[in-house]
Amino acid sequence: MNAVVLDSIGKSYSLGAVGVAALCDIDLEIRSGRLTMIAGASGSGKSTLLNLIGCIDRPDSGRLVVAGQDIARLSDDALSDFRVRHLGFVFQNFNLIPVLTAYENVEYPLLLANASKGHRARRVSELLDAVGLADKAKHRPGQLSGGQRQRVAVARALAASPRIVLADEPTANLDSHTGAAIIALMRRLQQEQGVSFVISSHDPQVLAIGDDVVRIADGRIVNVCRGLGEREAA
Ligand SMILES: Nc1ncnc2c1ncn2[C@@H]1O[C@H](COP(=O)(O)OP(=O)(O)OP(=O)(O)O)[C@@H](O)[C@H]1O
Ligand SMILES: [Mg+2]
Repeated sequence: MNAVVLDSIGKSYSLGAVGVAALCDIDLEIRSGRLTMIAGASGSGKSTLLNLIGCIDRPDSGRLVVAGQDIARLSDDALSDFRVRHLGFVFQNFNLIPVLTAYENVEYPLLLANASKGHRARRVSELLDAVGLADKAKHRPGQLSGGQRQRVAVARALAASPRIVLADEPTANLDSHTGAAIIALMRRLQQEQGVSFVISSHDPQVLAIGDDVVRIADGRIVNVCRGLGEREAA
């Protein structure tokens, strides 16, 4: 089973009168229940690719299937609903809501998904525990370190039990030691929660943890390396 299938996907941005091709002819299968890395230099198209997979943006051409759903068949409203129900996001800048506590930030996607109060309380406590922040539940983002903020963001991304979690350079704003801890945390939770993770990075330390590594350059796939994590585990 594949978490995501991209079939001849193209995406350009218009800059004034000219179009800038950000992705060309992308054919890719992203496996379910794995940690897939998207690697490439600055400007290679990593964020553009994650934004398409995350249904934040739509492709110009080709067929995109996310968690079994052909995205082209969904209206914009249905696509937003699909995103809330099936996808989780971790951002480079954490993107936590500053006026909410760590607890409330993790609870937020569960409120959007209309989860019951009891389920919300159980799920938030379980995830704050899993990311080692049970004692920081009442802290606001401004009262947490960068690494702690990103741990809250990882818990939030998993809260509504998504099928796929997307993370665009999640360690870029962290020192390398903290970044390594966040990636190890993502690896552990990806396995414990049985969810698919797709992470972009250009940091070799981060890329090394992936099961599969997809390398892109100038908007094209140059190499797909599969089964790296499994080989190590064997
Ligand atoms: N909104 C936009 N308008 C015009 N061009 C854009 C836009 N967003 C991205 N691009 C262009 O598309 C290409 C791919 O950009 P993208 O942001 O996907 O790269 P990236 O691999 O994520 O880079 P980085 O590592 O710096 O984040 C680049 O050439 C970029 O200049
Ligand atoms: Mg980017």
